[in-house]
Amino acid sequence: MDVISLGIGDPVEPTPQHIIDVLIKEANNAENHRYPSYFGLPSFRKAIAGWYKGRFGLDFDPDTEVLPLVGSKEGIAHISVAYVDPGDIALIPDPGYPVYNSGTILAGGKSYFMPLLAENNFLPDLDAIPADIASKAKLMFLNYPNNPTSATATADFFEKVVDFAKRNDIVVAHDFPYSEITFDGYTAPSFLEAPGAKDVGVEFHSLSKTYNMTGWRIGWVLGNAEVIEALGRVKSNIDSGIFNAIQKAGIVALQGPQDSIEDMRHIYKRRRDLVVSTMKELGIEIEPTKATVFMWIKVPEGQTSQGFAKLVLEKAGVVISPGSAYGPSGEGYIRITLTVPDDRLKEALDRIASTL
Ligand SMILES: Cc1ncc(COP(=O)(O)O)c(C=O)c1O
Repeated sequence: MDVISLGIGDPVEPTPQHIIDVLIKEANNAENHRYPSYFGLPSFRKAIAGWYKGRFGLDFDPDTEVLPLVGSKEGIAHISVAYVDPGDIALIPDPGYPVYNSGTILAGGKSYFMPLLAENNFLPDLDAIPADIASKAKLMFLNYPNNPTSATATADFFEKVVDFAKRNDIVVAHDFPYSEITFDGYTAPSFLEAPGAKDVGVEFHSLSKTYNMTGWRIGWVLGNAEVIEALGRVKSNIDSGIFNAIQKAGIVALQGPQDSIEDMRHIYKRRRDLVVSTMKELGIEIEPTKATVFMWIKVPEGQTSQGFAKLVLEKAGVVISPGSAYGPSGEGYIRITLTVPDDRLKEALDRIASTL
């Protein structure tokens, strides 16, 4: 069977050529063949701080407030090693990117799921977190623009998070890889723009989605210096940094021409519109998303997430993700990604339509 996967958010378009060219040149430089620094090239850390300054007007010290990562997933998994001891609680969005929960479990901690519900615009209800849970929690993960729901957060919500984290002495880990994948004039705010956010948290980011570099494994975390130091200490016992040639290509990604970002926005928007119009024709309720490469769609009446995903795989040969895979509150939804070529997406949607 010719299976089409709408399962994983992995862009098919290549990394922009000027970034690849730097990797080729730097891979030929023997100086780059030795162990990199645990804490990344100072020039890459400066480029990250410069990008944040340009994009959000925020200042970060490249030496103490920025840490390169072997892809943001790596840091997201390891921050639990730094902050969660056996029996400690981490507050996890439900549904959410699975690594928040698995990193917590691997560190011996317990996840408290914060339901993201349509009626709350897929934002967690902080007032609904019991006081005894909040007092035992060490870490809170958040992610806007959100995977899997594609929801976005307001500056006002981030201010409430800062207040909650201060009152309960919780480290906030905001995961922000989709900051640039936005549509219809929407601009995503950084958590670190909220007043006081740097006192309580960090933001994870990545070159993966912004520049179609998922395979390169390069990202970063920035924000609170103590948290950066703690995560850096854990990592220095686990990995040995990122290939310097890749970091040098990363500098050019952040500082070079940025037109590929706008090109990708057009591509994803076109695919998003195709999904919206197809779903509407099928009578399925759907709103155009403002950000991310995901569409979060209700399953037809009477179906479960897993049952519908299985039916679509068996009958249509299309992989879609059951919402329940991202946490119990994902039940009743499926997630599809926009990271396949237009013609494959169209064929996948036609095939899904024929199963209904
Ligand atoms: C919400 C979220 N966070 C983090 C990641 C990991 O990205 P990276 O390639 O930087 O490890 C992903 C990848 O899909 C993601 O969706």
